[in-house]
Amino acid sequence: MSLWFGGDYNPEQWDEPVWAEDDALMRAAGVNTATVGVFSWARLEPAEGEYDFGWLDGTLDRLAANQVRVILATPTASPPPWFTLAYPDAMPVTRDGVRLTHGSRDTYCAAAPSYRVAARRMAAALAARYGQHPAVALWHVHNEYGTVCWCEHAALAFRSWLQKRYGADADGLAQLNETWGTACWGQCYSAWPQVQPPRATQWRGNPGQLLDFRRFWSDELLAAFCEQRDEIRAAAPRVPVTTNLMLPDYQVIDPWAWRREMDVVAVDHYLSGTGAEGHADIAFAADRARSWAGGRPWLLMEQATRLVYPPGGRVLSRPPGRMLRDSLGYLARGSDSVLFFQWRASRAGAEMWHSAMLPHAGPDTAAFREVAALGAAMARLGEVAGSTVTARAAVLLDADSWWALDSQGLRGADLRYLDAVRRDHAALRRSGVVCDLAHPSGDLSGYRLLLAPALYLLTGAGAQSLRRFAADGGVLVVSFGSGLVDAAGQVQLGGYPGALRDLLGIRVEEFFPLPDGEVVPLSPGAGPGSPPGPLPAGARGATWTELMTVTGAEVLASYAAGPLAGYPAVTRHGVGLGSAWYLSTELDEAAHGQLIAAALAAAGLTPEVPGLPPGVEAVRRRAAGGRSWLFLLNHASEPATVPADGTELLSGAQVAGSLELPPGGVAVVREQSRSS
Ligand code: GLA
Repeated sequence: MSLWFGGDYNPEQWDEPVWAEDDALMRAAGVNTATVGVFSWARLEPAEGEYDFGWLDGTLDRLAANQVRVILATPTASPPPWFTLAYPDAMPVTRDGVRLTHGSRDTYCAAAPSYRVAARRMAAALAARYGQHPAVALWHVHNEYGTVCWCEHAALAFRSWLQKRYGADADGLAQLNETWGTACWGQCYSAWPQVQPPRATQWRGNPGQLLDFRRFWSDELLAAFCEQRDEIRAAAPRVPVTTNLMLPDYQVIDPWAWRREMDVVAVDHYLSGTGAEGHADIAFAADRARSWAGGRPWLLMEQATRLVYPPGGRVLSRPPGRMLRDSLGYLARGSDSVLFFQWRASRAGAEMWHSAMLPHAGPDTAAFREVAALGAAMARLGEVAGSTVTARAAVLLDADSWWALDSQGLRGADLRYLDAVRRDHAALRRSGVVCDLAHPSGDLSGYRLLLAPALYLLTGAGAQSLRRFAADGGVLVVSFGSGLVDAAGQVQLGGYPGALRDLLGIRVEEFFPLPDGEVVPLSPGAGPGSPPGPLPAGARGATWTELMTVTGAEVLASYAAGPLAGYPAVTRHGVGLGSAWYLSTELDEAAHGQLIAAALAAAGLTPEVPGLPPGVEAVRRRAAGGRSWLFLLNHASEPATVPADGTELLSGAQVAGSLELPPGGVAVVREQSRSS
């Protein structure tokens, strides 16, 4: 087995003499994988139904001869210009009613029948030609599914999705009216054709409609993926099929549903910051990918070597010297690959300023030397391929909650779903405990601690599974904004959080969001004179507060000032063999860390390597036979001494008792077999 190392390869952007140089430099850099054809539709099908595979035949044969495995993409994320002219109705329409046209990529409506037919035909043609090609190790359908549209095709498809969900008859329509609460503002529908996508409207839209539109698009895009996948499976039954999931700050698809249809989970990840937030970012991305993969190895399909252009953001560049450490961040958390966008930097076109493994300045560059050093490291780490990471703690992650909360839920408050999830993930990471992301109604039996941040929408099944988790001995920590609406997106009455009130032993009557920058002091226990609880003196809440009373829970901290002075702020409720904790406010970082530490202790969980200095990350991958590898990354600016025993794979050095990590240093230690 080996780790996959390489990136997107677009030889069609270059003349033939460059290809021989590519071959030689790929060998020099230790590249063993190339993703080919991602945007090659116009080249492969220059006119409708006329194929030209000569260039791709040559590329696959050349890569195979060079010992480079191929990830073969279907090029359907970028339809050719002829498609635009032939099928103008398949061009996407924005929420504001503007029809887009060719000029970029991802310019299609995936609900347009002409697009779906053409995309499927292209996938079938590729599968027929390369289904048995020995170089093809993995199929990569499309690229970063995520384009949504508000056109008439989308309207029709949305309506038929709704009819399947609610029933196509008058009762179904009545059910839709009831679920969406259309009695508010007289939005009641009396016939199906009146139901539209949530296009631009005068003011606030309908939350039920917005939520269902999100759900619809995730399903519609998934259907488009499955159509192509099935064409490929029919021609190449032994080769796995994937698609590269995007990890942006918004969520278009529900990865928990998608992962069931993918043979292997692959993600693209671009840094949103180059400092400490970059490391937190990598850990969060990698933990999500591994969790979607059900703990199995997954693939990092794309990252950038240096310059990256985040959507809407300022251009960022990964500092020199960070490529190995950052890449090990993904490997440590279960990736079996380090792949980049892209191999050779383009000299023209929309991405000509995007960094690449081989920069414009050529191989005699710091960046290429860093790439080649990374390639050599990957070869030395080959034995970790196939090993896995086991987590006993998890943060709950749910697409419905994200969609419902961020589109219309609790408007005006500075309460954003992803921020809440990231905050909990970061607190666990800082505590040295590796965690998964988990779905509330998934299998939670392997966890001892669950954090539920802003889990706004909770189904009956989700609530029941959390109840069972705590009753069976788990520690559940729920934060404000959770359990407020049911699967339909409707408020659970009788006091918040309706779905979790009994489990938490509390009853919230009202919300009191805090203005930007305002904080409220907390005091231990039920107020002055109470014994100290798990929160430090001087703990503060921000963003959000709630008027709550306890109906069985113990009060760990109360509001010490302001309109809610004396009311409980943080509680804990014994449930069966476990407990359910509640945070009604956003704790400052120190207090949050201390509360999580108390919850970890209650759950009996300890860090992967206890006692590490701040900024040192330790994650273990394990394989059958008691084999394990300890990944150590020093993100701090101080050297660190870390306990370890075994063989350090990057240097080949024996490690007995402890290891010195310089600032920014890394190590991967093959540990002594635990059974030996
Ligand atoms: C995405 C795409 C790539 C490339 C990169 C650039 O991840 O999949 O084709 O455009 O962004 O960051």
